Amino acid sequence: MKHLRSIDELGAKGLLELLQLTVHMAEINQRPVPKVPALRGRTVASLFFEDSTRTRLSFETAAKRLSADTLTFNVSTSSVNKGESLRDTVATITDMGADAFVVRHKSVGIPWQIEQWTKASIINAGDGAHQHPTQALVDCYTIREATHTARFDGMQITIVGDIKHSRVARSNIQAFTMLGAKVTLVAPPTLLPPDVSHWPVEVNHHLDDVIPTSDVLYMLRLQSERMSQGHVPTLREYSEQYSLTQKRVARLRDSAIVMHPGPMNRGVEMQIDPSDIKNSLIHRQVANGVSVRMAVLFDLLGSGANLGGQA
Ligand code: ASP
Ligand code: CP
Repeated sequence: MKHLRSIDELGAKGLLELLQLTVHMAEINQRPVPKVPALRGRTVASLFFEDSTRTRLSFETAAKRLSADTLTFNVSTSSVNKGESLRDTVATITDMGADAFVVRHKSVGIPWQIEQWTKASIINAGDGAHQHPTQALVDCYTIREATHTARFDGMQITIVGDIKHSRVARSNIQAFTMLGAKVTLVAPPTLLPPDVSHWPVEVNHHLDDVIPTSDVLYMLRLQSERMSQGHVPTLREYSEQYSLTQKRVARLRDSAIVMHPGPMNRGVEMQIDPSDIKNSLIHRQVANGVSVRMAVLFDLLGSGANLGGQA
């Protein structure tokens, strides 16, 4: 694999292979010194044109644990502010020896565009409302870890909230269904794409209907930075119908798990503290982000190097 831009280009086989490789990376992360020489001499550049905490830091941590060098591009202090184009920025960082770009941008398709301007590998860290493939890998890995099941056949996964603007929802729907899950989207009509009839999902507008039958409840943030107009009448009304509350958590199955990609908006979609949810996997999602991104970097940049040694 040269690039990771979307879940569908990975396919079910590629998805399962990366999840398997993540198990080895998680084992490395358990060691007293979680560092191996696998990517020594390789350089990973972060190119984030949109804000990030989890994705950027976990990719940078992952690169360091594999002994790669890192280049961090900060748009607000870069020569983009002097009028330099994206193309020239990519060419400049390529000239410095980048072997991979981890790219986040508000425009859909940027990872495919950049690929034409560099010989480096491209990893999509989020393009508009289109794809966020490493988040989907994190979420599949986290569900497997919690349920001890390799596939999700028969599992009912409910994704709640702002589906319309969510690249996480799009990547996760593909990944979850590849592993056999049934996916239900819960949102008001204004927060769904205009036509989801070709998506492999059910749609329900009432969260309370699906609470008792969900094995996984996956909450999403209202992604207001991607909205061009108000999509909910008031936040209070939205919260009443679509937020996770103590009362709703009490109606979940005993074994049901709760997830959120972060960042959370407390008091909007989350009216309960995650630490008050018995089966919240939100912290595991963050922790597993490092192992998953190590697997992706190793898969793209490793050349059969041994993962066993100490750096
Ligand atoms: N962090 C995720 C993303 O970048 C989800 C979110 O922002 O709500 O898509
Ligand atoms: N889940 C996620 O992508 O978080 P960040 O936006 O903080 O990277």
